[in-house]
Amino acid sequence: MIREMLLTDLDRVINIENKSINPPWKKTDYEYELRVNPYSRYYVLILNEEIIGYCGMWVMFDQAQITTFVIEKEHQRQGYSKYLMDKIISVANESKCENITLEVRVSNVAAISLYKKYGFIIANIRKSYYSDNHEDAYLMIKPLGGNYE
Ligand SMILES: CC(C)(COP(=O)(O)OP(=O)(O)OC[C@H]1O[C@@H](n2cnc3c(N)ncnc32)[C@H](O)[C@@H]1OP(=O)(O)O)[C@@H](O)C(=O)NCCC(=O)NCCS
Repeated sequence: MIREMLLTDLDRVINIENKSINPPWKKTDYEYELRVNPYSRYYVLILNEEIIGYCGMWVMFDQAQITTFVIEKEHQRQGYSKYLMDKIISVANESKCENITLEVRVSNVAAISLYKKYGFIIANIRKSYYSDNHEDAYLMIKPLGGNYE
């Protein structure tokens, strides 16, 4: 089941985040996204009443941008990412976005493969994008129908 992320989910989300993302976002970052940012949409994936993954996006006029996308390690490689990706694509389509973009570390083979599977293509390289180790990022983009007015 997918539902919108709530403030009460954040302890669990941060628990997964700290094991999955380097450098992880802090709880206050997520609080900002949920409480303040008018463009943000965050969702959690629930299995057996427990959050096992989550994703976030910004929907800004005709552009959608994925900000985070995580399946907890214990549940990876079981096809669960489909539920989050289908949600992101349907929200972007409902919002009449022209495309969905994201940045991903060039070393993140699993995520790059996932995004390619869903029709994202590498559009550009952002040199030294990540401040922790100066790793490059791929800017990936998936074109959509659009018709934003
Ligand atoms: C990337 C991530 C979300 C994939 O989630 P997942 O639930 O394990 O993925 P799925 O089992 O649904 O697999 C979907 C596709 O992703 C790709 N994939 C997933 N894990 C992979 C791996 N270890 N190696 C290569 N490809 C992989 C494959 O294309 C796969 O399709 P296939 O099964 O037909 O080969 C997960 O590895 C993750 O949370 N990683 C840590 C957080 C992260 O890096 N997020 C992305 C930030 S940009």
